[in-house]
Amino acid sequence: MKLFSLLAALLLVSSAGAVVPKAQYTGLEPTNEPLPRVPGAFSLSMNKDGDKDSWNMVAHDEAGLYYALQAQQQLTAAYGESLPASLYVQDYPRYQWRGLHVDVSRHFFDKETIKKLLDRMAALRLNRLHLHLTDGPGWRLEVKRYPLLTQEAAWRKKLPKNDWNWHDNRLGTAYPELYGGFYTQEDMRELIEYARQRHITIVPEIDMPGHFAAALEAYPHLAHPAYKTGNWPYSYDFLNVEEPAVMDFVCHVLDELMEIFPKGNPIHIGGDEVDLHLVSAEQQRVFLQQLVDYLNERGYPPITWDEAATNGVRGQTVMLWRSEKVDEVLALGLPTILCPNSHFYFDYPQSTSPSEPQSMPAPLITVEKVFSYSAPKNAHVIGMQGNLWSEYIYTPELLFHKAFPRAAAMAERAWGSPLRPFDSFMRDYVRLRPQNQR
Ligand code: ACM
Repeated sequence: MKLFSLLAALLLVSSAGAVVPKAQYTGLEPTNEPLPRVPGAFSLSMNKDGDKDSWNMVAHDEAGLYYALQAQQQLTAAYGESLPASLYVQDYPRYQWRGLHVDVSRHFFDKETIKKLLDRMAALRLNRLHLHLTDGPGWRLEVKRYPLLTQEAAWRKKLPKNDWNWHDNRLGTAYPELYGGFYTQEDMRELIEYARQRHITIVPEIDMPGHFAAALEAYPHLAHPAYKTGNWPYSYDFLNVEEPAVMDFVCHVLDELMEIFPKGNPIHIGGDEVDLHLVSAEQQRVFLQQLVDYLNERGYPPITWDEAATNGVRGQTVMLWRSEKVDEVLALGLPTILCPNSHFYFDYPQSTSPSEPQSMPAPLITVEKVFSYSAPKNAHVIGMQGNLWSEYIYTPELLFHKAFPRAAAMAERAWGSPLRPFDSFMRDYVRLRPQNQR
């Protein structure tokens, strides 16, 4: 290679991250570092052979090969004809859980929207989609044993623009115009398969014992005595954890989940934001511990929000959302996924621009803030996740606007990419974005 073209190629490789997230090694020569034996690791090389680009991919598993293919597609899309004569890329994930969470209860997103999101996640080498399927504003998964959950509790009175109004969230079908929807069990199986082909696991959440108004409106005998059926706003929407019928109900729901999802698939059982004056920490602990044990015994790894862990539940993976609790939760020694609301709540506003869509009245979380996140160095941390609560996310466009590019910024941290200037990340992201879209 002539010196001039070598310099040009070097510039090309070093100035451009070339792939998003940026690979840990990108160069004109192979790296001497062996490919680490972690799931998803890959290396990719390209050598010009006459007019042809000859690509070679190495990985220890199918996910690694899939990620190599994503990187190759991004490189080809970014450089076209101007690829250097040779190119080597090597990368491996820092964490095995690289997730996004979507609240499909407050606003429902149909199968096509979820597939589009899965495509974009795959391009960023994210591998978990956590669906918050149940909450006060709607139940979103068919449960054959309890048909009212979707015949009634998946619907509510349609409001102008479908925006969120806690004070007018009337559930049921007794209104001239309805808003809502749900996934049939067949729909969910289709999504699981679509995700699997992209090396993504769908993680269903049934949030308990709080955030349960949708189900309580359909099956009032499950409700805590403080809950008043039909009285919106639905306060004290807790299960009556002392009532034996409640444990039967939730185990039946989990049984159907276990028929839909393959063995080994994590199942999230919630555990957040329950008033300790009405359901004591000990009552919550006993109730959730039984469910954690129930899932573990059946080979479905349980997950809870961090309150369950600080209330004493053990044997699960924890999702750490309360950023002020990081040290306390990590000290418990449970496997932990970081989704602190200081950095990874992607429904929070991302700019002060007048065109920024309405958000929760919450602190600003800019793309740069996500990109600069410094995770605690702690062996219990197994992953990172961006959460999209949908109070104000009522169209697919808003969902994608909120998710990206913050999810891409998180992916860089979750792949252990070397720190680089934020501008360089944004340049690559913008250049590669069409490739990320369906
Ligand atoms: C949460 O934000 N309540 C998990």
